[in-house]
This record gives sequence, structure tokens and C-alpha cells, in this order.
Amino acid sequence: MIQVQNLTKKYAGRTAVDSISFEVGKGEIVGFLGPNGAGKSTTLRMLTCFLSATEGTASVAGFDIYDDSIEVRKHVGYMPENVPLYPDMRVIEYLQFRARLKGMRAREAKRAVEEAMDICSLAERKFSIIATLSKGFKQRVGLADALVNKPELLILDEPTNGLDPNQIRQSRELIKHLGERHTILISTHILSEVEMTCGRVVIIDRGKIKASDTPQNLIRRLRRPGEIILEMKNEAESVEKKLVKLDGVENVTSSQAYGGWSVFNLKTDPSIDVREDVFSLVQSSGWKIRELASRAASLEDAFVDLVSNSDEQAKSNVEKKETEEITS
Ligand SMILES: Nc1ncnc2c1ncn2[C@@H]1O[C@H](COP(=O)(O)OP(=O)(O)O)[C@@H](O)[C@H]1O
Ligand SMILES: [Mg+2]
Repeated sequence: MIQVQNLTKKYAGRTAVDSISFEVGKGEIVGFLGPNGAGKSTTLRMLTCFLSATEGTASVAGFDIYDDSIEVRKHVGYMPENVPLYPDMRVIEYLQFRARLKGMRAREAKRAVEEAMDICSLAERKFSIIATLSKGFKQRVGLADALVNKPELLILDEPTNGLDPNQIRQSRELIKHLGERHTILISTHILSEVEMTCGRVVIIDRGKIKASDTPQNLIRRLRRPGEIILEMKNEAESVEKKLVKLDGVENVTSSQAYGGWSVFNLKTDPSIDVREDVFSLVQSSGWKIRELASRAASLEDAFVDLVSNSDEQAKSNVEKKETEEITS
């Protein structure tokens, strides 16, 4: 549905998107992730023909972004980062106006707008003036606009930006639902959302693609040690000795908690699930336990691992410079 090859964008000589290549297959929901300034919006604007590329090519919904930009726009529902709405219009008027702009006939537009408002739960606000809507409802108007002409492909630029946790949860459900009928490329920085909705993620950092894989594979590739927490009321030293002997347990530390309880922290081999063995040992030793919990690595861990922290980078550069000055 989308094929991107060596796409590049330079702004006044500065490279914002640096020769990126990736694909999105029909029916996929792909998350486009990256820190602020990574080049997400620039890429999405090029793919929707709102910005011309400096170099490279892309085909979107079967059309070339240079040769068939009109067709691309017709086949793609695009929700830009800051949805440009007309604040003085009523929701229904605005959406009908947009549908007509997209070439729908009046009667067809009327029906399509009702349907889009229904999908985006806008029916109760359809006669509201846009300026009076909350941020969450404004985002839904933007989404209804993007899907009013039933495009095969939706390109959404941070659709949950600025929403509260409740609205984010609703928007996540909506996007999942839309994924049943549309191919979706969605940029966001809410990683838990991506983990739940996207089959694949493409990670971009400083204009370059860092990874393209399923969230599960990115987490697996991380190979961070697993972590298990036990809270028990037993003599720490002998417990530690027994726990560390278990297959897959690499290291055990403990700390005192309230009322004679101790918290044991186990670092484990990520490829071995030691929870059952730990539990049998607790049982056979007759230890008094009130918690056994494991913490799995998340997409956030993988993201942090893949994407350089620009603050830290800047700091280490400063430190490097300082040591250079001292040694010279
Ligand atoms: N119109 C523009 N003119 C000059 N530089 C821009 C323009 N738009 C974006 N940039 C720069 O390009 C880089 C990528 O921006 P953007 O694509 O908006 O990133 P993201 O959406 O990932 O936050 C940033 O460094 C930004 O400052
Ligand atoms: Mg952006």
C-alpha cells in the first residue's frame, strides 16, 4: 500500500529526512515512532503530497507521489498534526463541505458524513460550532474528515496528541476498529498505544530509520535480563543462596521492607521463564510469601534502547570537549 525508497527532505540545506525506505502492506496498522524532530511529520507530509521531496521516490495506494499527486490525495485520508478546522462552522457543515471538496455529490456526501460522524461518535455534537468543541472532539472531527470518502489508506499524524488518558483510550479503540477496514500508518509517541494497536512499528530517529519490526520482536531483540520480585518473611542470606542456584537466575539481591518483610530482586536470563521453579522452591522450602511478580521488558525499553537520547548526546559531547581542552 505504501512503498518508500530513499526518500529525502532537506530544509534550507538541513536534512530532516535522510534517505529512508520502508513499506506498508495492505491491511496493516503500522506505528511510525520517533522522538520530537525525528522527521515523522515531514515524511507523512511528503507521502500525502503536501510537501515535495528533495530526493527519492514513493508510491502510495498504487500511485506515484510525483506523477499522480491528485490520485494519491484522493485515495488517502490524511489527518495532519494540527488539524486545520474552520472554527465558525458547525461540525456537520464542515464535514459536508470537506466531502464536497473531495469530489462527492451532495446526496452521497450527506450520507457519507452521517456515517463518518457515527464511526467517530460525533452524532451528539453534529450541530455544535467547532470552536466550542473540546480538543478530543476536534480530533474526532479531523478523523471523520480523513475517512469521509472511505479511503483505503489512513495516514494519521499524532491523532492522540494533547488528549487526556480517557480520550486516548477511546481513540485507541476507534483506531483498532478502523484498522478492520483501512490500512493505517499512524505516528505517535504513546508507546503503550502502539503495543496494543499496531502489528508493526517503524522507528525513525534524526531522519533515519532505526528499526522496522513487530513490537514483540523489538522487545525480544532487546535481550534485557528479566526481573522477578519476591516479597517474603524469611532470613535473607539463606533464601538468596537457594534462589541463585535455580537455572536461569543470574543474580539475587534483597532489601528490608516494613514489618520484617524482605524484598528479593532476581535478575534472570531473558530466554528462560523461571517463575514456576521459583514458586516450587518457595513452596518446598515453606517460605512465607506475599508477592511474586515479574516485570517484562516493554516497547518503551526497546524504543529507549534504539533511539539516542539527544540530551545525553549533547552532554557527552560537552564532556568530550572539556576533556579535550584539558588535555591540550
Ligand atoms: N518548514 C520547516 N522548515 C525548516 N525546518 C523544518 C520545517 N519543518 C520541520 N523542520 C525541521 O525538520 C526536522 C523534522 O521535523 P518534523 O518532521 O516535524 O519532526 P517530528 O514530526 O518527528 O517531530 C526538525 O528538526 C524540524 O525542526
Ligand atoms: Mg510531528
